[in-house]
Amino acid sequence: MRLVLATANPDKVREITALLGDVVELLARPPGVGDVEETEDTLVGNARLKAQAIAAASGEAAVADDTGLEVDVLDGRPGVYAARYAGESATYADNVAKLLSELDGVEDRKARFRTVAIVVFPDGREVVAEGSVRGFIAIDPRGERGFGYDPVFVPVDGGGRTYAEMSLAEKQAVSHRGRAFRALAAQLDQLP
Ligand code: IMP
Repeated sequence: MRLVLATANPDKVREITALLGDVVELLARPPGVGDVEETEDTLVGNARLKAQAIAAASGEAAVADDTGLEVDVLDGRPGVYAARYAGESATYADNVAKLLSELDGVEDRKARFRTVAIVVFPDGREVVAEGSVRGFIAIDPRGERGFGYDPVFVPVDGGGRTYAEMSLAEKQAVSHRGRAFRALAAQLDQLP
């Protein structure tokens, strides 16, 4: 099976390629196709928008994901708006700084990362999978690896380390994206 990647974000491309690269042929997003505006208010809605746009532009099956970080004490924020938490053109560091300032002095730091992964075929059929992991938000950033909120997210089954303190393989073994894409691959494997 060949799938066109809906994302051009090199951090996500690296992770998705490590997770799916052995079971499907992954093609880069065609040049000239820009980012799709994420106008839905659910992960599955935004993931579907991205995959549908790339399937339509390429005429081939496309794979997308959308990820949210849900912090319990913030009533689930930043949630689906995790990329724009500190503003429209926020950097990873801006978003991390905003999250840490919102949680300044807060003891209950429980959170959940959730990813919806989707494949949309040119005829409109789709395969959807979800993966999530519970953890908590660290007091200060730790680690040099990964991207996004990785320096402040401590998954429950990671020995107290942040994602950014893990190798890619260690992160993927427990991560929201790892779980979502392994579930997606299992479903793709069952297709006739
Ligand atoms: P999106 O799926 O591209 O909309 O991602 C939403 C936001 O969550 C972005 O700011 C990403 O940096 C962040 N994000 C997505 N996946 C991860 C991850 O695996 N670790 C840390 N941050 C992530």
